[in-house]
Amino acid sequence: MEQQAETKKRIFSGMQPSGELTLGNYLGALKNWIKLQDDYDCMYSVMNMHAITVRQDPAELKKRSMEVLMQYMACGVDPEKSILFFQSHVSAHAELAWILSCNTQMGELSRMTQFKDKSKKHADNINAGLFTYPVLMAADILLYQTDLVPVGHDQLQHIELTRDIATRFNHHYGETFTMPEPYIGKAGARVMSLQSPENKMSKSDPNPNGYVWILDPEEVIIKQFKRAVTDSGNEVVAREDKPGVTNLLTIYCAVTGKTMEEAEKEFAGQGYGTFKQAVGEAVAAELAPVRERFSQLSKDKAYVEEVYKKGAEQAARIAAKTLRKVYKKVGFVAW
Ligand code: TRP
Repeated sequence: MEQQAETKKRIFSGMQPSGELTLGNYLGALKNWIKLQDDYDCMYSVMNMHAITVRQDPAELKKRSMEVLMQYMACGVDPEKSILFFQSHVSAHAELAWILSCNTQMGELSRMTQFKDKSKKHADNINAGLFTYPVLMAADILLYQTDLVPVGHDQLQHIELTRDIATRFNHHYGETFTMPEPYIGKAGARVMSLQSPENKMSKSDPNPNGYVWILDPEEVIIKQFKRAVTDSGNEVVAREDKPGVTNLLTIYCAVTGKTMEEAEKEFAGQGYGTFKQAVGEAVAAELAPVRERFSQLSKDKAYVEEVYKKGAEQAARIAAKTLRKVYKKVGFVAW
């Protein structure tokens, strides 16, 4: 048993607690995380240290961090199978980040599109942490000798940089880090805004009708889908010139497990109204148990605390091994 567990590949992923989670987070990431738990040694973390690269209200950050952890659990991240923890509970993330930052070039960090985007968006707070954010992310990943990192397309550049840093370190100091690879879930799970389907569904969408929270009540979810933009014509088909309908079909398939052909056939000859109602109902049905579990967890703070404390201990043990190795390699005096 034990031996088998040791040969499983390591998965690491996390989200920033920068708001409630959306259907996009659920279908694009969480649903995938859940599936991976049986075949991999998974670690899922709430990236609260990353979150403070933009201004946060401390009380809000604390509340949302806890809620994100509970949403991971409500969606099915199982603390018996996976290691679930807050990034800030394992100090090795910051310690390794320092060493890696001394092995990362300013030029490499200047090229990161997320840095460029965020510094435009937060022009009054272009702090050094925003710039070195990808180094902390590299530390998150390399600290656990991660094999695979499930992420969205927007994070591929950061994974590429993580690989460059690892390659350079291994080359300079000798084999130290496992080379991580991005793990992109099925393309079918790329969820777009319900109002402007050319953009990704995002909690920072200025139009609140563009997204659905995973904890929204059934009637709200159905209403959001009824309001979703469709395209001209009345055919329910996935086509490039029909981004709205295509997005709804994608969501429907991701939730029901049906193929695109099956879904198109099911709605052939039916109007957009019936179709949107059906998608809304399917999503609401999928998320109802998540909402229920979340509400139960909110009433059981002691259990949640037990989970993240145990998670932090487990993570810290693995992290310490890597950090010790790194300290030795760079020539820090042992103590
Ligand atoms: N940068 C990621 C995001 O914004 C979050 C993140 C931080 C992450 N560290 C990570 C994701 C390590 C995967 C692995 O979505």
